[in-house]
Amino acid sequence: MILGIETSCDETAAALVTRSGEVRANVVSSQAELHARYGGVVPEVASRRHLELAAPVLGEALEQAGATLDDVDSVAVTHGPGLIGALLVGLSAAKALAWSRRLPLVPVDHLHGHVASLYLQPDPLEPPFLCLLASGGHTLLLDVETHAGYEVVGTTLDDAAGEAFDKGARLLGLGYPGGVALDRVAADGDPEAYVFPVARVPGFDFSFSGLKTALLYAVRDLSTDELARRRADLAASYQRAIVRALVERARAAAAELGSSRIAVVGGVAANSELRQALADAALAPLALCTDNAAMIASAARYAPPIPYPEYLGLDAYATAA
Ligand code: KG4
Ligand code: ZN
Repeated sequence: MILGIETSCDETAAALVTRSGEVRANVVSSQAELHARYGGVVPEVASRRHLELAAPVLGEALEQAGATLDDVDSVAVTHGPGLIGALLVGLSAAKALAWSRRLPLVPVDHLHGHVASLYLQPDPLEPPFLCLLASGGHTLLLDVETHAGYEVVGTTLDDAAGEAFDKGARLLGLGYPGGVALDRVAADGDPEAYVFPVARVPGFDFSFSGLKTALLYAVRDLSTDELARRRADLAASYQRAIVRALVERARAAAAELGSSRIAVVGGVAANSELRQALADAALAPLALCTDNAAMIASAARYAPPIPYPEYLGLDAYATAA
């Protein structure tokens, strides 16, 4: 089995996945509550918490799989992009484990990991397809021709879609992280109540910062009581604008590139309206949308391993070059 480790942001995660893509264990410990009081992830706090959680999360993954380290034949780990201190905790743990067992180490790009959430059993997707990757840190359109990688055909010029959800949720007083909360509140609102602009930028790129400002203006003029009364309508209209932008661009890119299949991955792929709007697409399973280590182990099946002990000097990276 491949042992996967993921610590790029505020989830400490470990998973055990077989070569054929069967998930034997998938343990995710979210630090969201720890960061909620700050209204966002505090990098240094995240690093320290990863340090505390790494060993217990790993132990729980082995237990869930009914396995020991003897059953592990390679260690896969996210080495970027993400919070550099957080990444280094996972990378150091992975190196130590691999080195102590004389195993190869497979460094995995976090974004490749999200795409590889589609390659797991019981319903693995085969390339080629056009992939919309929408998370808290990225909004990308990817041309996926092989399991081993992708080509970027569109990206956000400012905020990521998940970031737009989180900032919108904060303006509506829904706390952090707000994507799920906004999704839930929007279900009771009228998506046509407000008209929020969806930026039209050239090519297949996205822009969400204007949308956030539009919501700020709409909220600013409301009293506390009015906001409480209009919250669901605001959430529904705001969500509609984000989803519309994502869906329009994904469909346009698929048509232009001649892709017959669209796939959706990343935290925002958990959004109920997006899942409905792209019901004909290959949607990452709900449990694998937000950050997890099963997707990292999955990506490792298609990435080159570094033999023991050549990986000891391997570094993490915060942003893709
Ligand atoms: O992929 P992910 O776990 O982390 C990154 O790699 O960034 O994505 C987290 C993002 C957050 O911005 C969160 O608010 C958003 O995904 N998210 C959602 C939903 N569930 C998570 N956004 C909208 N609707 C949801 N149901
Ligand atoms: Zn992610």
